[in-house]
Formats: sequence, structure tokens, C-alpha cells
Amino acid sequence: MMHNRNKLFGAMLLAGSFFLTTNSIAAETYDEDTYGPETPIVWENPTKVNFSHKVHTMDAGLSCDSCHDELFTMESGAILATGEMTMAAMTEGKFCGSCHDGNTAFASNTQCVSCHINLQEIAPEGTIVWTKPVKAVIFDHKTHTEDYGLSCDSCHDDVFAMQKGAAEKAADFTMQSLYDGKYCGICHDGSTAFASDTRCNSCHIGLKGYNRLMGNKGDH
Ligand code: HEC
Ligand code: HEC
Ligand code: HEC
Ligand code: HEC
Ligand code: HEC
Ligand code: HEC
Repeated sequence: MMHNRNKLFGAMLLAGSFFLTTNSIAAETYDEDTYGPETPIVWENPTKVNFSHKVHTMDAGLSCDSCHDELFTMESGAILATGEMTMAAMTEGKFCGSCHDGNTAFASNTQCVSCHINLQEIAPEGTIVWTKPVKAVIFDHKTHTEDYGLSCDSCHDDVFAMQKGAAEKAADFTMQSLYDGKYCGICHDGSTAFASDTRCNSCHIGLKGYNRLMGNKGDH
């Protein structure tokens, strides 16, 4: 569209082949007045995220006022300074989540790697340990993501919230739920991964294992 309009304009103005040529070239390069800044905006706090104007204006056809200034001001970094732009807020339909809701655009709790640059680095390094209802069940990100190649959105945040300890606050975080295909049981069903009614000791390290992991001297 842009291309044709420029051509027509050039032709009407001078009908000179020189202008036609330069206008055609200009229309093919990125026009910051029409599409916004060409260089992607990169936020680095707390994680590294990439935002491209190009994708939103030139490719998806959004106008400037679909984001400016109600959702974002025209000042890179301003929104980060508020500290309010979190994944939880996006899931509630704020910030990027006002469109990335699975409706207008892909949902914020899917395709993590589209927005994030270094997801492996932000996955918790240590072992997650639950002590309720029984002591102690362990979960390791590194084995699941790096060794077994699972993507973050196979668990977050439909199956598990991105918050250590959240699951054990739920009354149904039990073996029965696992057998019913919830929580770890969506995979630990004997098909995607070993079944939840086998290899108890892979997940359960018990009181002794817990003390060892925590560096405690032992029970009283
Ligand atoms: C899908 C949302 C969206 C659309 C559409 C959009 N922008 Fe932006 N724009 C942003 C975001 C996000 C930022 C960064 C704000 C921040 O970091 O606080 C930004 C920042 C900017 C900045 C500041 C850049 C800098 O380096 O400080 C300018 C200028 C800008 N936009 C212009 C435009 C123009 C012009 C359009 C329309 C052609 C447009 N934007 C369309 C989301 C959008
Ligand atoms: C639509 C873009 C988008 C998608 C999709 C997305 N994120 Fe984010 N994420 C952000 C933005 C923006 C921030 C806040 C700015 C920053 O961290 O630099 C953020 C922040 C985070 C944080 C920091 C803590 C927090 O909760 O805010 C984590 C962890 C995170 N994302 C993980 C994920 C995971 C895992 C997925 C996939 C399930 C995902 N993100 C999908 C844009 C996205
Ligand atoms: C006004 C609506 C709107 C807002 C706000 C918005 N997006 Fe988008 N975004 C879209 C649409 C529409 C698409 C294209 C359709 C799709 O990919 O689902 C898109 C596509 C994308 C893509 C895919 C790029 C690719 O690989 O093709 C990324 C990444 C992305 N947006 C990141 C963000 C981030 C980060 C934010 C917040 C800073 C944001 N978006 C805010 C509407 C929006
Ligand atoms: C196989 C499932 C699974 C996968 C895959 C997975 N996680 Fe998690 N993640 C969990 C569980 C379980 C928790 C703890 C939730 C709880 O205690 O309720 C968690 C917690 C988190 C937390 C919160 C840590 C804290 O200290 O509060 C972050 C951040 C996180 N995950 C990021 C990621 C990222 C980034 C990826 C991809 C690289 C990823 N996760 C992949 C299951 C997974
Ligand atoms: C998205 C799928 C998925 C979810 C959800 C999941 N796992 Fe796994 N898990 C796997 C796969 C795949 C393997 C590797 C195949 C196998 O060992 O059967 C694995 C392996 C393991 C292992 C063996 C690790 C080793 O050292 O080899 C343990 C322990 C484990 N998972 C615990 C858990 C716990 C606890 C949960 C719930 C908090 C959980 N997993 C949730 C897919 C998953
Ligand atoms: C895939 C990991 C996994 C495997 C395998 C597993 N469990 Fe569990 N188990 C859990 C999780 C997660 C919980 C809930 C968190 C907690 O109690 O700390 C739990 C809780 C329990 C509980 C207390 C709550 C309830 O459901 O009654 C018992 C008892 C239990 N497991 C016994 C077993 C036995 C016996 C086996 C082997 C036949 C086994 N578990 C195998 C992950 C596992």
C-alpha cells in the first residue's frame, strides 16, 4: 500500500524516473515516522525481553495509538521504572497482556521464547523442595528443561505458578491428583515420563534426604 501511494505521489509530482526510483527505495526501507523506532527496545530487568515496533506496526498493522500513550509512553525504559510490568500483571490482561491474551495475539503464558532472550538463565537453579503434605518432595528445573528439553510453557503457568511454594498451599497437591493427571501427573503418567505410582524415591527424598539437602545435622 505504502509502496503504491509513494509511487503515485512521485509520479504526480514530477513524473521523473529519478524520483520514482528513490521513492521506491525509500518505501522498501523502514520508515520510523510511519512505523516507530526501528531498533528493538530491550528491557533487562529482571529478565531480558525484546520488543519490536516493526512486528507490531509494519507486520501486524497496529496504529501508534493502540499502545501510546495509554499502555506505554514514548520513552523506552519508562514502564520498567514503575516495577509493575510482571508476568502476573500480563496474565491479568495488563501491559503486553492487554493484547497477548490468546485472542488478539498469542497468550503471555505461551511461546515464552518469542519475548524472552535468555530463559534458561532465569529458571531457578536450585532444587525446589515441598514439605507439605509430606516431607520432602523435590523438583529440579535443570533436569527438566536442559536434560529433557521441556519448554517453560509446558508447565508455566497453567500447571504450576512461577512462584516457589505456591502448589503446596493447594489442598489438592496430593498423590491422588497426580494419579488423576494433575500437577506432575500431566507427564508422570507412565507414558511421557515414569508413572507417579512407581519410583517413589525419585521424587520423595524423605526426612533424612531433606536434612542432608538443607545441611541440617539431623532430626532431634
Ligand atoms: C504494540 C504496542 C506499540 C505500538 C503499536 C507502538 N509502540 Fe511505540 N513503544 C511501545 C513500547 C512498549 C515502548 C517502550 C516503552 C517503555 O519502555 O516504557 C515504545 C516506545 C516508543 C518510543 C520511544 C523510543 C525510545 O527509544 O525512547 C517512540 C518514539 C515510539 N514508541 C513511537 C511509536 C510510533 C511512532 C508508533 C506508531 C507508528 C508506535 N510507537 C507504536 C509500544 C508500542
Ligand atoms: C508477550 C511477551 C512475553 C511472553 C510471551 C512471556 N513473557 Fe515473561 N516477561 C515479559 C516482560 C515484558 C517482562 C518484564 C520485563 C523484564 O523482565 O525485563 C517479563 C518478566 C518475566 C519474568 C520475571 C518475573 C516476573 O514474574 O515478572 C519471568 C520469570 C518470566 N517473564 C518468565 C516467562 C515465562 C516462563 C514465559 C512463558 C510461560 C514468559 N515469561 C512469557 C514478557 C513476556
Ligand atoms: C495493541 C496490541 C498489542 C500489544 C499491547 C502488544 N502486542 Fe505483541 N503482538 C500483537 C499482535 C497483533 C501480534 C501479531 C499476532 C501474533 O503474533 O499473535 C503481536 C506479535 C508479537 C510478537 C511475535 C513476533 C514474531 O515473532 O512474529 C512478540 C514477540 C510480541 N508481540 C511481543 C510483545 C511484547 C513484549 C509486548 C509488550 C511490551 C507486546 N507484544 C504488546 C499485539 C500486541
Ligand atoms: C516440568 C515443569 C516445569 C518446567 C518445564 C519449568 N518449570 Fe519453572 N517451576 C516449576 C515448578 C514445579 C515450580 C515451583 C512451583 C511451586 O512451588 O508451586 C517452578 C517455579 C519457577 C519459578 C519461581 C521460582 C521462585 O523462586 O519462586 C520461576 C521463575 C520459573 N519456574 C521459571 C521457569 C523457566 C524460565 C522455565 C523454562 C526455562 C521453567 N520454569 C520451566 C516447574 C517447571
Ligand atoms: C511437562 C512434563 C513434566 C512435568 C509436569 C513433570 N515432569 Fe518430571 N520428568 C519429565 C520427563 C520427560 C522426565 C524424564 C523421563 C523419565 O525419567 O521418565 C522427568 C523426570 C523426572 C525425574 C527424574 C530425574 C532424574 O534425575 O532423572 C524426577 C525426580 C521428576 N521428573 C520429578 C518431577 C516432579 C516432582 C514433578 C512435579 C513437581 C515433575 N517431575 C513434573 C517430565 C515432566
Ligand atoms: C513424580 C513425582 C512423585 C512420585 C513418583 C511419587 N510422588 Fe508422592 N508426592 C509427590 C508430590 C508432588 C506430593 C505433594 C507434595 C508433598 O507432599 O510434599 C506427594 C505427596 C505424597 C504423599 C502425601 C499426600 C498424599 O497424597 O497422601 C504420600 C503419602 C506420597 N506422596 C507417597 C508416595 C508413594 C508411596 C509413591 C510411590 C508409589 C510416590 N508418592 C511417588 C510426588 C511424587
